[in-house]
Amino acid sequence: MKKLISVMLAVVMVLSFAACGTTTNTDKLQMATNAAFTPYEYKEGDAYAGIDIEIAEKLAEKLGMELVVNDVEFGSIIGGVQSGKYDMGIAGMTVTDERLESVNFSTSYATGIQVVIVAEGSDIATIDDIYNGKTIGVQQDTTGDIYASDDFGSDNVIRYKTGADAVQALISGKVDCVIIDNEPAKSFVAANEGLTILETEYAVEDYAIAIAKENTELLDSINAALAELTEDGTIPAIIEKYIPAE
Ligand code: ARG
Repeated sequence: MKKLISVMLAVVMVLSFAACGTTTNTDKLQMATNAAFTPYEYKEGDAYAGIDIEIAEKLAEKLGMELVVNDVEFGSIIGGVQSGKYDMGIAGMTVTDERLESVNFSTSYATGIQVVIVAEGSDIATIDDIYNGKTIGVQQDTTGDIYASDDFGSDNVIRYKTGADAVQALISGKVDCVIIDNEPAKSFVAANEGLTILETEYAVEDYAIAIAKENTELLDSINAALAELTEDGTIPAIIEKYIPAE
């Protein structure tokens, strides 16, 4: 009996040790995002949802790591990745030459288009109409902000913390239009009456994952995982789930 008890004790000890081992050995993959960008990343209650979140989960699975989502201001993502606070930034983030000076980008997994949202009946009918001293609402530090500041003058651009705040400003007449990525634009227009998207596109861009320049090992494994997940249909299915082809 005594022997049986000591054997059982030993088994329990080995098991609990193994359990500890697995939790400490599963490395965490820290993702930085800005979860106010439907359908790429948004919150559903306390949970995160969206294309980028699901792709990140699949990437973590492939790398044998545990995904941790950090919801931060969009403008702090690049710096946080650069400093190593986060392993990767996935936030419907456009590859630009300027950002490439600070971080590396993975291969692109989606296309984004900057579009213009106006109130129905607005006298802004094309991009050219914006030049008339109109005010433009944007999410701070996004390409919408950067391009609009270049093209229309920084003074005419009003920067908000989220795209939703910029759209609220449009609804209440504080700005004349909002420049933002097309998929979030569609979801804002669907959720709010009286808004419409101009037919002329402002800019076409590639979305990719930001990774620290030194971390070429992670860049390589993420690119390999992205290729596999594209080839086996996983990423196309995730995108189709959130953006059904009409
Ligand atoms: N594509 C734009 C950019 O890279 C906007 C991205 C905003 N993303 C977000 N999760 N809020 O600047």
